[in-house]
Amino acid sequence: MGEWHNLMWNVILLILLLLIPVPAVLSWGKEGHYATCKITQEYLSEDALFAVKQLLPDSAEGDLAAVCAWADEVRHNYHFRWSSALHYIDTPDFKCNYEYCRDCHDSYGHKHRCVTGAIYNYTMQLKSAYANSASVLSYNLTEALMFLSHFVGDVHQPLHVGFTGDLGGNSITVRWYRRKTNLHHVWDDMIIDSALKTFYDSDLSIMIQAIKRNITETWSNDVPVWEHCAHNYTVCPDGYASESISLACKFAYKNATPGSTLKDEYFLSRLPVVEKRLAQGGVRLAAILNRIFTSKAPIAQSSI
Ligand SMILES: *[C@@H]1O[C@H](CO)[C@@H](O)[C@H](O)[C@H]1NC(C)=O
Ligand SMILES: *[C@@H]1O[C@H](CO)[C@@H](O)[C@H](O)[C@H]1NC(C)=O
Ligand SMILES: *[C@@H]1O[C@H](CO)[C@@H](O)[C@H](O)[C@H]1NC(C)=O
Ligand SMILES: *[C@@H]1O[C@H](CO)[C@@H](O)[C@H](O)[C@H]1NC(C)=O
Ligand SMILES: [Zn+2]
Repeated sequence: MGEWHNLMWNVILLILLLLIPVPAVLSWGKEGHYATCKITQEYLSEDALFAVKQLLPDSAEGDLAAVCAWADEVRHNYHFRWSSALHYIDTPDFKCNYEYCRDCHDSYGHKHRCVTGAIYNYTMQLKSAYANSASVLSYNLTEALMFLSHFVGDVHQPLHVGFTGDLGGNSITVRWYRRKTNLHHVWDDMIIDSALKTFYDSDLSIMIQAIKRNITETWSNDVPVWEHCAHNYTVCPDGYASESISLACKFAYKNATPGSTLKDEYFLSRLPVVEKRLAQGGVRLAAILNRIFTSKAPIAQSSI
């Protein structure tokens, strides 16, 4: 009797646990990824644009930005659960720095399973497919493009390279004005949402235009530096991750202790950081795709 009761309780408990929604550990929200990839499209070379359009699923209708949040949409699906650890990097608490060998692993300690490892992985897949058509037909290059475009966005969200102990701000409960949320979500979505309402007439395309204008005016001298990788490498995500954890310490975690209420002062001082990271993510993704799909590689047709 007692044992049967225990069993019943365990079953009930299990059912209840299954019903509790898994807290969504997302990345730049939909808007952030959309903005990043809209900026990217502006800077693609003709060759890269051609290759990208061939790889995009029909549903995207030729618009890269339409699939840049795809990796978040599927990460909780059974088939893609393995990709969940590829959206972020956990770094040692309060160290404020990042090292690939030390930090790029999942919670089981499997090496390379983090956002920078994934960026290397999908860049390599696309590049090798375009460099020699014969090999690597085993990769799904449409998925590689969608993952790469998403993860380059993610690695620019400062709290995607955050402390292990607070799960990149996910376990830091704060109020955003009157709303209860967590610090990670503030950086994924809330700052952008509030900016849209306050400054951009709730129109994402106006915000994207404003960022683009800064890229061609205010930041025009910085753009070549953003695009550059040492040794002419195709991609250099370790630098982007180091910037992120540094910004996380300087801006995201600062004055955002558990239980605090974040309002105008935090919002207005952090928004420029967010807008610049969207710009850098967009410009860099374009530079990476341009390097992957450089002309002269005659393979485009045969490998698709
Ligand atoms: C690399 O890509 C393949 C194909 O999507 C995937 O199975 C593997 O988990 C990826 N590894 C990393 C570290 O991104
Ligand atoms: C490649 O991946 C996409 C997205 O998951 C999928 O819709 C498509 O069927 C895949 N293509 C192949 C040839 O498996
Ligand atoms: C444009 O750049 C200025 C100067 O750095 C900054 O204050 C402003 O927030 C930026 N606006 C956008 C939309 O990026
Ligand atoms: C990078 O590429 C440029 C142009 O192809 C070349 O002039 C330069 O020497 C290269 N730099 C390095 C460090 O390989
Ligand atoms: Zn993500």
